[in-house]
Amino acid sequence: MTVRPEGALAPLPVRRVETARRAAPPVVEPAVAEFRPAAGETPSFFVWTLGCQMNQSDSEEMAGQLLAVGCERATSLELADLIVINTCAVREHAEAKVIGRQGRLAELKKARPGLRVVLTGCGVRESERSGLARRFPAIDMFLRPDEEPELALRLGLVSAQAPIGLRTAATAATTMVSGRAVSAADRLAPSRATALAEGRVARSSTISAWLPIVYGCDKTCTYCIVPFSRGPERSRPFDDILAEARGIAATGIAELTLLGQNVNSYGHDLPAEERFGHIRTKRSSGRKLDLAGRPDLAELLRSIDSISGSGGQPAIPRLRFITSHPWDLSDRLIDAMAECPSVCEHLHLPIQSGDDDMLGRMGRQYTVEHYRERLARIRQAVPGIAVSTDVIVGFCGETEAQFQSTLSVMEELRFDTVFAAAYSPRPGTPALRLADDVPAAVKRRRLNELLARQESIGLERNREWLGREVEVLVERITPRKRAAADEDDLADDPSLRVPSLYGAAGEGSVALAGRTRHNKLVHLSGDPTLVGRAVTVLIEFAGPFALRGRVVSESAGPGRVGPGRAAAPTS
Ligand code: SAM
Ligand code: SF4
Ligand code: F3S
Repeated sequence: MTVRPEGALAPLPVRRVETARRAAPPVVEPAVAEFRPAAGETPSFFVWTLGCQMNQSDSEEMAGQLLAVGCERATSLELADLIVINTCAVREHAEAKVIGRQGRLAELKKARPGLRVVLTGCGVRESERSGLARRFPAIDMFLRPDEEPELALRLGLVSAQAPIGLRTAATAATTMVSGRAVSAADRLAPSRATALAEGRVARSSTISAWLPIVYGCDKTCTYCIVPFSRGPERSRPFDDILAEARGIAATGIAELTLLGQNVNSYGHDLPAEERFGHIRTKRSSGRKLDLAGRPDLAELLRSIDSISGSGGQPAIPRLRFITSHPWDLSDRLIDAMAECPSVCEHLHLPIQSGDDDMLGRMGRQYTVEHYRERLARIRQAVPGIAVSTDVIVGFCGETEAQFQSTLSVMEELRFDTVFAAAYSPRPGTPALRLADDVPAAVKRRRLNELLARQESIGLERNREWLGREVEVLVERITPRKRAAADEDDLADDPSLRVPSLYGAAGEGSVALAGRTRHNKLVHLSGDPTLVGRAVTVLIEFAGPFALRGRVVSESAGPGRVGPGRAAAPTS
């Protein structure tokens, strides 16, 4: 159902325009022209990544490109010949972090005139390109997120003999709002496939992999800069994604996360095909789209889940996806989650507010009731599923009563984790037409109140795991210094404060951290060789943000109990 309460901004008349065009001659920006290394010389590089998983995945591609043309990784930003900053712009604070480093970067450049700095990511928006040099004076070159595949080319690092994928034509896709182009994205969806085929994706982990399935965002959230920085939604071809998943499976990676700003709207922009004729989903909320005959996320999950390993079980034991929008949480998707053994029992489903007027003003296009109904449906289909969400406090016009409604909804829906932030006005977004009238001090107070409330809900949810044996995929060794800080996370009650995990499981044991299928962070003690393995852990302590347990078996299990489900508390 579409909701637009009185006073709400009309949904953005977002329109996609696509044109095929030949593009990307080997442009070398004047500031970096002299960067071409002399024969035999290769610059070292450092990629500084801010923001979300999509940026992390994009950074893997940029690092892969640079490695492919012979550059080497520098161990720190200070030692690099080339610094690539992959920015986030979701809140002012995220951009301020990079602006705040301009002085330091200028110092480094003064000391080493050969140093070059490239700024990419969501901080580079076409509509503001003319002002970028003034805001970021230490930067030599700016690339929009969709221009990142041209990084090495634009730096002049690609020779005439370069692989064809780096010198390619593009398809332009433009987001139009009220007849005005507000963002453009020239990124050619197949460029990822080419990069993979040519070994130009440098994955940062051998345990978990990112797999982008849809770029950009077509939604209408009035506060959000993402549609302006990342352009319209562009789904990757179904078969390209499956091929990438097969490649990942062949490497023995334990966990795969499908990525997109709205991963569950995957496929609506792809052509209908006979083989997807059984797909007839209709959107239950938001802008109506013809989804018939097009692949969707449910189809992808089922196909990836059915890539089988040597024993017939899913080759990739853990399959995740992030982020989902409540518009597109279809019954087909819920059924796929319930029926595919590899799909983890966790869903990130941002609610943003617990008040319908606020949701209308935010352009979210669903009601609290719609969200409640979808959540009940998924909790019924996947008992014990862990649910996390995003909330914005202090958005334009939010009254105390509306904020209290958000708190009540949180009490009622009992999320496992809430990522909350105070509203931060972003340039060019429709919400700038509304008054940012909640004073900063009130935003701060509401944020603290909400976080405090969630801390007790999170603790209660985590306590449901006490005494249970769970499968933990061990991801990392926690450095000694961090181990002490992590204990604070666990200690809701001083009696739970425990001695360091170093040595706790015998001589040579170290502090380790990993995640359950329900995405719970678990601290444990064990041999460093457990990193990358799925082990069975008995949960002994629960804090609001993490669990702590003891390894009872160095083999996986009881990862899934029953038809595709892990042991979990019921809720
Ligand atoms: N696509 C996801 C969704 O809407 O469901 C979220 C992606 S967005 C990059 C991540 C989160 O940042 C949002 O869910 C929202 O809570 C927060 N966010 C976005 N714009 C914001 C703003 N202007 N001020 C504060 N928080 C913001
Ligand atoms: Fe931003 Fe909304 Fe798109 Fe999420 S769905 S990225 S909040 S515009
Ligand atoms: Fe930030 Fe862009 Fe991600 S704004 S959160 S890096 S999509």
